[in-house]
Amino acid sequence: MLVFTADHIAKTFNRRKIFAEISFSLEKSDSLAITGRNGSGKSTLLKILANVLSPTKGEIEMKIDGKIVKPVDFFTHLGLVSPYLQLYDEFTGWENLDIFMKVRGINASDECLGELLKRVNLWERKNDYVRTYSSGMKQRLKYAFALIHKPPILLLDEPTSNLDAEGISTVYQIMEEQKKAGILIVATNDSEDIKKCEQAIDLNLQSNGGSKK
Ligand SMILES: Nc1ncnc2c1ncn2[C@@H]1O[C@H](COP(=O)(O)OP(=O)(O)O)[C@@H](O)[C@H]1O
Ligand SMILES: [Mg+2]
Repeated sequence: MLVFTADHIAKTFNRRKIFAEISFSLEKSDSLAITGRNGSGKSTLLKILANVLSPTKGEIEMKIDGKIVKPVDFFTHLGLVSPYLQLYDEFTGWENLDIFMKVRGINASDECLGELLKRVNLWERKNDYVRTYSSGMKQRLKYAFALIHKPPILLLDEPTSNLDAEGISTVYQIMEEQKKAGILIVATNDSEDIKKCEQAIDLNLQSNGGSKK
């Protein structure tokens, strides 16, 4: 049993209110789109959900099999793919994954890394330096990071921007698999991305309860 709940989340930066009254409750197989104009706080909300940032008000609760997960441990059950994730240009794609695992304390076999690189279509380029990768390839490598530990909760920030048709189809496949295996939350204004989610919250409206579309 997996439950991920946001209870009256608000965020203020330097006394400027970004959003308030964000509440939702998601379970396995639920999917949520977070929409809103540039600067409405989509990326900020994802960071709060991942416990990378603290909310000004409100609580996030993650419950797995009836047990409450402490926010400091959220990262072991959650993957965040964001355009701001840091890659190391002077290392290969394979080495970047290896470094990321060691930092996170994840044990995955070479076979598992290989599977991931194949899944995001980077197997052929795994031994090339990341500085030689296109922006789409870098974004696909970030997916491999997020999927390394098969997180029950997957958060995607503008997942299809900067991707070509092949990259978008890889992302949609990952989204479909996530919807079967766990919870999917996507920050986006792309109408195709939004259609893939069952629920939506519009940050332009400030207050919203995860309304059904
Ligand atoms: N660390 C920060 N300090 C101050 N203001 C910030 C910080 N991060 C984001 N903001 C501001 O919060 C607002 C929401 O930003 P963001 O979450 O990136 O929006 P979106 O992802 O919807 O474009 C913007 O006005 C942005 O300038
Ligand atoms: Mg953003």
